[in-house]
Amino acid sequence: MSAPKKLFIKTYGCQMNVYDSERMAEALGGEGYVETKSPDDADMILLNTCHIREKAAEKVYSELGRFKGLKAEKPDLKIGVAGCVAQAEGQEIMRRQPLVDLVVGPQSYHRLPEMEAKAREGEKVLDTDFPEEDKFEKLKNRPKAKRGPTAFLTVQEGCDKFCAFCVVPYTRGAEVSRPADRILREAQDLVERGVREITLLGQNVNAYHGAGANGDMTLAQLIWELDKVDGLERIRFTTSHPNDMQDDLIEAHGTCAKLMPYLHLPVQAGSDKILKRMNRAHTAESYLRLIERIRAARPDILISGDFIVGFPEETEADFQATLDLVEGVKYGTAYSFKYSTRPGTPAAERPQVDPKEADDRLQRLQALLTKQQREVQDSMVGRDVTVLFEKAGRFPGQMVGKSDYLHAVHVADCDRAIGDLARVRILSSGANSLAGALID
Ligand code: SAH
Ligand code: SF4
Ligand code: F3S
Repeated sequence: MSAPKKLFIKTYGCQMNVYDSERMAEALGGEGYVETKSPDDADMILLNTCHIREKAAEKVYSELGRFKGLKAEKPDLKIGVAGCVAQAEGQEIMRRQPLVDLVVGPQSYHRLPEMEAKAREGEKVLDTDFPEEDKFEKLKNRPKAKRGPTAFLTVQEGCDKFCAFCVVPYTRGAEVSRPADRILREAQDLVERGVREITLLGQNVNAYHGAGANGDMTLAQLIWELDKVDGLERIRFTTSHPNDMQDDLIEAHGTCAKLMPYLHLPVQAGSDKILKRMNRAHTAESYLRLIERIRAARPDILISGDFIVGFPEETEADFQATLDLVEGVKYGTAYSFKYSTRPGTPAAERPQVDPKEADDRLQRLQALLTKQQREVQDSMVGRDVTVLFEKAGRFPGQMVGKSDYLHAVHVADCDRAIGDLARVRILSSGANSLAGALID
């Protein structure tokens, strides 16, 4: 038997790309590929790319440039670009970097096996269609390898919101929800392979409206169905939009024991003028009221967010409103970015903020967010949490896992296995993680 071909995949961007990379590895697994951790011994290199900010998109070209020597040594090496840069730039990628053999968009990667075969014959192949067929179904029935205790599961993809700064509606297309029975089957399969925690993914996951047995289902209804899956212990979901935060989902945070007390709810800015120009369709006040209602349902919930500073026409007063909103919410964790101009989006044509000013605002916002994150993390000391163990720690007998609130927790003298859940008392709070001890 010939040796298996080797596949090296590098993943950029969001969790959905992580999920997609797993699916691409499975699809090519059917063609005799096994994954390798190094590009040096690969027969195929795939970059699964992100287009969200300019820096992310440009990284792809510098990464591709690095494979020049490798390709010269190994003419049979095939190089592919997948993901959102593939969708946004298509043919242009091959023009800019001729060593690329294959370009595949996020909606077409179930066609990778045929594309790979063509590339092997020396063809340059491009597929950035939004095909009719269900890529998730095409990718079923792959080998059932054992899995770690946590997994992502895409339930919704694409976005119809068209925030003025964002490429996602263009790279991922219109919003589509997967039917509930297929998601439940996939969840069941993951659990049989060792998964204990599933994070439901979607660019607008709380806009989920997939077909169920009795008509369309809400995300909360889907979560309640998943709640019945034996062996599944924890459910999370990301990313949510404030305008799609329905009552039944808020309520589920108070009543569904498997639904974890963590919510990523990006607000982007605190000035109503800027929110309007961003086309966000919510105000700072409506967001704050929403957070209040969520906390009324689940007082200990950890809130996470995304922010953009330096959006076109943002003044110092607008920025101050963002700081005020952050003070009002108190985030357990957050991601903040300097606005990046994306060609083809409405905001790209507007008067831009001085980059130095934007840098300064980003620093000030990050200082506040880091302080809040630290305070929330420190407030865990003395509390008892449940930890799902994900790996062995650096020291003998030590295990590392995540609390319900998604904090990393180190436990010494831990006789539990990967995939076990245990009650842990938090003893101290470090730079980026907590330390605790098992409660017998
Ligand atoms: N669907 C999610 C996340 C989309 S992208 C949502 O609606 O919240 C993740 C984050 O990247 C966004 O929340 C936003 O904060 C940031 N982002 C998107 N476009 C950007 C741009 N042009 N410049 C800077 N940050 C951007
Ligand atoms: Fe982008 Fe806005 Fe859609 Fe989120 S809701 S993916 S930020 S357009
Ligand atoms: Fe990036 Fe595409 Fe995700 S642009 S953030 S990889 S949806």
